[in-house]
Amino acid sequence: MNHVTRTQQFDRRYIKRLFTLADKLKNERDESLKGKIMAALFFEPSTRTRLSFSSAMLRLGGSVITMESGQASSQSKGETLEDSTRVISNYADVIVMRHHETGAADRAAAVSNVPIINAGDGNMGQHPTQALLDLYTIQRELKREDGIHVAIIGNLRYYRSARSLAYIIGKYKDMKITFVSSPELQMADDVKKYLTRHKVAWDETEDMTEVVKKADVVYQTRIAKEWIKDDALYEKQRGRYIITRKVANSMKKGAIIIHPLPRIGEITDDVDTSPHAVYFRQVRYGLLVRMALLKTILSGQK
Ligand code: CP
Repeated sequence: MNHVTRTQQFDRRYIKRLFTLADKLKNERDESLKGKIMAALFFEPSTRTRLSFSSAMLRLGGSVITMESGQASSQSKGETLEDSTRVISNYADVIVMRHHETGAADRAAAVSNVPIINAGDGNMGQHPTQALLDLYTIQRELKREDGIHVAIIGNLRYYRSARSLAYIIGKYKDMKITFVSSPELQMADDVKKYLTRHKVAWDETEDMTEVVKKADVVYQTRIAKEWIKDDALYEKQRGRYIITRKVANSMKKGAIIIHPLPRIGEITDDVDTSPHAVYFRQVRYGLLVRMALLKTILSGQK
């Protein structure tokens, strides 16, 4: 079963094939997934992940069925995630699922008859397809795979996309990650131990000033109110790290700024016209990667 629940599961060969397929899908539409059905189960809000997966499926000739949390589904009657998954896996060929609980994708995968794609689980889980599209963005913009210094800034503890990206970076050579955050929001130890085991150089600092001048990639994150349960901590942290035009101008030539989005002020609007700003192109790259992933999982195409 081709479940996609965490980025540690991929190897470089798989990623390379996926990205080569994504390159070919630029401006493409085909009917390769005609007759296939994707179920989009989103128990948390989403704009990009949900719509890009739906758009990807439709561009490949497939169909989409959806279920939301709340009164519209039998979740409101107390149905378990496992039972919902068992039922829906009879209706669809693949399930794309976002859930507020860390580990929800693994729980669904354990009982599903069809592939589960984790579209984000909990505040300390993973968002593997976001990391794939982040990595595709990095590799296509920098035109190399190895020897890249990534600065991950802001909310690192409660940010599944940052966790997934750090894990996937562990697959490459001569990589460096600098974690920039306040002590309360530092990256969790499981990620750091994995990086050390995989010989990825990493360090951490509270000050972003010097690191943004040296990094090849500045990965900005959102101080996510919905994931930081302590209101006082949220109020203390929001606005702590902001990429302004002045900060962007201090970056070295060819370096890029990426962000999973949505942003809520942590990159100011005047950065959008900076040559370093890549975060809206990143959205387009995401569509291609998700098309390639669905094609790989559902039609076996590599
Ligand atoms: N990047 C991301 O996951 O965005 P959404 O929450 O809008 O899907």
